[in-house]
Amino acid sequence: MLKATMDYRRLGQAGLRVSALSYGTWVTFAEQGDFDRALQCLDIAGRAGVNLFDTADAYGNGEAERLLGLGFETLGWDRAAYVLATKLFVGTRDCVNMRQTLNRKYLLQGIEDSLQRLRTDFVDLLYCHRPDPHTPLEETVWAMSDIVARGKALYWGTSGWSPAQILEACAIAERHHLRKPTMEQSEYHLLARERIERDGAAIHRDHGIGLTTWSPLASGLLSGKYAGGIPAGSRAAQRGFAWLQPRLCDAADNRRVQRMQAVAQRFGASAAQLAIAWCTCHPAVASVTLGASSPAQLRENLAAIALAPLLDGDTLRELDALFPAGAAASLDTPTNTSTNAPTGAENTGTSTFSPSSFSLK
Ligand SMILES: NC(=O)c1ccc[n+]([C@@H]2O[C@H](COP(=O)([O-])OP(=O)(O)OC[C@H]3O[C@@H](n4cnc5c(N)ncnc54)[C@H](OP(=O)(O)O)[C@@H]3O)[C@@H](O)[C@H]2O)c1
Repeated sequence: MLKATMDYRRLGQAGLRVSALSYGTWVTFAEQGDFDRALQCLDIAGRAGVNLFDTADAYGNGEAERLLGLGFETLGWDRAAYVLATKLFVGTRDCVNMRQTLNRKYLLQGIEDSLQRLRTDFVDLLYCHRPDPHTPLEETVWAMSDIVARGKALYWGTSGWSPAQILEACAIAERHHLRKPTMEQSEYHLLARERIERDGAAIHRDHGIGLTTWSPLASGLLSGKYAGGIPAGSRAAQRGFAWLQPRLCDAADNRRVQRMQAVAQRFGASAAQLAIAWCTCHPAVASVTLGASSPAQLRENLAAIALAPLLDGDTLRELDALFPAGAAASLDTPTNTSTNAPTGAENTGTSTFSPSSFSLK
């Protein structure tokens, strides 16, 4: 049994330190939501040293934020002790100007709505959930900077933005003496590596942008649970998530996961723990945001923090061979791949960094 000891990392250049494993609320708090289970999971995460909790107005049309806010209030946690992150872009109000946008009117209304659902006066981290090609970037940067200046968010950042978009936002902020983006949240797991290893690592190294990552298990695929088809009650079986099924049931990927399970067994660990531990090994990553639909899954996943220091160069090279960088298969949502989404990772001409090219602590 792996015994977890949490590790805290600076969020890029910011002074803020976040737990290397954070806990997110997509699907699990809303569509699969049950308040008692959510409360239990928050308690387990808190006791394991998780200090960063991630949500978005998009998750369950605001329901995940509502459950998270109620959970914090019920647990009575000191607001200073945890870092709360939410994201804006998708919107919860069905009217013109309030959906899939980063316009000023939506952002200023959206943060008020999120704060109300979260039962707090401020969030620590506020992400622009996707880029918005229909709103001038300058308008978005001004609005996000104003939200920070008004104390409604402590830091703002991006999610799924290209390095070029982030750098342009930084340049606008510098030109007008506004708050610059601090962090980017990107997809990162053994089956989708480029966003962090090519793009994220470069903006982290050259511009101090902090990196948080999502879907370390590729929605559950990397746990091995889809090798025999779709288990009842799993994410792929949820109403509205059928779009994930072809990816999660991909035969070749499931065979690779089975081979990874053999690697994990050498450490007395599960495939899920190995996949999560691998994500924490990238030196540019501040926090890997976990998803878990039950307390048992969360306990198992949190123990991955103890596995990371045991992953030697040979093991990382073995994983590199099984899941080569460049064989990326994103599990982004249909919403996120709409016309409002980024056009894909851009070639920045920078070199790539993989966990196996670094020595580990
Ligand atoms: N910025 C963005 O665009 C973005 C996008 C996606 C996610 N996120 C954030 O990142 C968080 C994590 O993403 P994710 O939920 O996709 O993470 P994930 O780790 O890829 O998938 C989590 C899901 O896998 C299954 N699972 C987890 N642990 C397991 C285990 N030990 N054994 C078997 N199955 C297991 C559970 O689903 P079932 O039990 O239902 O099968 C769980 O809900 C989200 O909650 C959200 O906060 C952000």
